[in-house]
Amino acid sequence: HNIKYYKSVDSTNNVSKLLAQQNAEEGTILISEEQGNGKGRLSRGWFSPSRKGIWFSLILRPNFLPQEAPKCTLMAAVAISKAIRSVTGVEVGIKWPNDILYEGKKLVGILTEMNAEMERINYIIIGMGINVNITHAEVPEEIRDSATSLLQITGKKISRVELLCAILAELENEYVIIREKGFSPILDEWKKFSVTLGQEIKVIGINETFHGKAVNIDDYGALLVDTGNKIERVLAGDVSIRP
Ligand code: BTN
Repeated sequence: HNIKYYKSVDSTNNVSKLLAQQNAEEGTILISEEQGNGKGRLSRGWFSPSRKGIWFSLILRPNFLPQEAPKCTLMAAVAISKAIRSVTGVEVGIKWPNDILYEGKKLVGILTEMNAEMERINYIIIGMGINVNITHAEVPEEIRDSATSLLQITGKKISRVELLCAILAELENEYVIIREKGFSPILDEWKKFSVTLGQEIKVIGINETFHGKAVNIDDYGALLVDTGNKIERVLAGDVSIRP
């Protein structure tokens, strides 16, 4: 396995992108103790203090169509949720598409970035940030009440190495399942962790906002929302569980 370890980078996703462009092989992992400019979704930042979390990116080159890329995000969310449960016993939930929550607070974020040419995926970078040993006081005030960490949940320091090993084993396992059996076993697992399905939600899209009931997720990983007069298919955006 190809694991690249850094003390500090701007963003593990950015460095991974450069490596992928230089033909880094599938399965390459890039991990850093800290990120000077960690990236979140929707142009937000990601708080990544040194040695307090697991900040890493995985390069994949799946044989998917570009519109299937969200499968990678769902796969990562399932793998991380299972690893957290097995190592710490903490029962997390997944909010579509990629937030891992505990009691409504964010524990893990996933940022998937893709490069495609001629309708084929060239590479996918799955960036994962797991808040492990961050205390409540260390968190910037703006996000203090919407974020959490395994230390805050369990009251104990958690071994980042042990958790990372479990996450990598789960990721590999899930990726093999997708290749051999297709995506539906992962989707079934995702649904068991979901805190979104069955809820009345607000969808905050790029151009519009609407309300409805999250009824299902399709084979591409899109969320299906029943607005009362039709089923909307949501591919990207944010959902709020409070309608
Ligand atoms: C989100 O907004 O929820 C996604 C956050 C993703 C954070 C991770 S940390 C490792 C990787 N590198 C980055 O710059 N971002 C992702």
